Amino acid sequence: MFVKNCWYVAAWDHEVLADTLLARTIIGESVLFYRKSDGTAVAIDNRCAHRHAPLSLGRKEGDAVRCQYHGLKYASDGRCIEIPGQDTVPAKLCVRSYPVVERQRWLWVWMGDPARADEALIPQTFSLADPEWRYKPGYLHYDTDYLLICDNLLDFSHLSFVHEKTLGGSPNIAQARPEVTRIPRGLRVTRDVRNTVPAPYHARLASFPGKVDRRFAYDFVVPGVLMMKTHAKPVGTADDDMTGALQFHSCQALTPESENSTHYFFMQAHNFRLHDATITEAIYQSLCTAFEEDRRMIQAQQNLIASSSPAPMHPIAADLALVQFRRVVQELLDAESGVPVRAPQPRAPRGASASKLPAGTVPAA
Ligand code: FES
Ligand SMILES: [Fe+2]
Repeated sequence: MFVKNCWYVAAWDHEVLADTLLARTIIGESVLFYRKSDGTAVAIDNRCAHRHAPLSLGRKEGDAVRCQYHGLKYASDGRCIEIPGQDTVPAKLCVRSYPVVERQRWLWVWMGDPARADEALIPQTFSLADPEWRYKPGYLHYDTDYLLICDNLLDFSHLSFVHEKTLGGSPNIAQARPEVTRIPRGLRVTRDVRNTVPAPYHARLASFPGKVDRRFAYDFVVPGVLMMKTHAKPVGTADDDMTGALQFHSCQALTPESENSTHYFFMQAHNFRLHDATITEAIYQSLCTAFEEDRRMIQAQQNLIASSSPAPMHPIAADLALVQFRRVVQELLDAESGVPVRAPQPRAPRGASASKLPAGTVPAA
């Protein structure tokens, strides 16, 4: 159902403080996150091995955690190290521990084979911790299949309709054909929208005298991590001339909670007027408003799919990236279940070429 050998964003760093016991369900498994006294993050099964009480209702004792039902105590590697009223602890009494890495304000957890937890596979989310960029962190919970949200992020034609009065502002976005290329474990999508009206939220941030050129350039990798550069700038200026441009870098991560629910971590950073907190707040509020527009549509879509008799969906040209991404996911699922892997050769769009660029390296906007 879900790719296991994969880094999933589990939490913002501020969600796991020194005394926090955070329970969060990731691909159907309830995981307990906390910090050792040196600040290192820990991820272990939240289910006590004795009678399956949640360890998140327990208490931290040094670097260990004690279940507050009958008192079993677990070390940070998941080993049970104490059973009240019993002199010996069976060696096999333990809960599972998960590799967890804290990088640039996100805690990433590896849900598959620990021996394969390669930190080089963590996507490059530099703007989460770069002093040249400012943002306010966001989180949303969806009661939908995470793949429907991936579909949404892989086809920005919806900006013209779902976000007509917020992030979009013009039918030109849906009319522009993106360039889509395959990268390791995901896709690269670049969409230029030239000579168009500024998005309503851009117009509030800058006084553009007229129309603008917009670019959306992002990598989208499994399980559903987006790293995107966007800009809007006076129409007709050279591609590398950022004079008067509004530039943004956005990191967004979808982590399935279950088959029909998803954690959505997001931020959109700006690199202008860094010391004006009202700008940071205005961008965050614009994003929240727009993401509610997405959620309303996707939730309604999920509800209708779930309540209707099965029927095929009819593909259109705009589906290119989302169809390819589902192939990427399926190839990884097949590999994990031992299905022989076919050479992945998705149909290339016009003008697209195969790419070996590393995930997370977005072309200059
Ligand atoms: S359920 Fe945890 S100690 Fe009994
Ligand atoms: Fe959207």
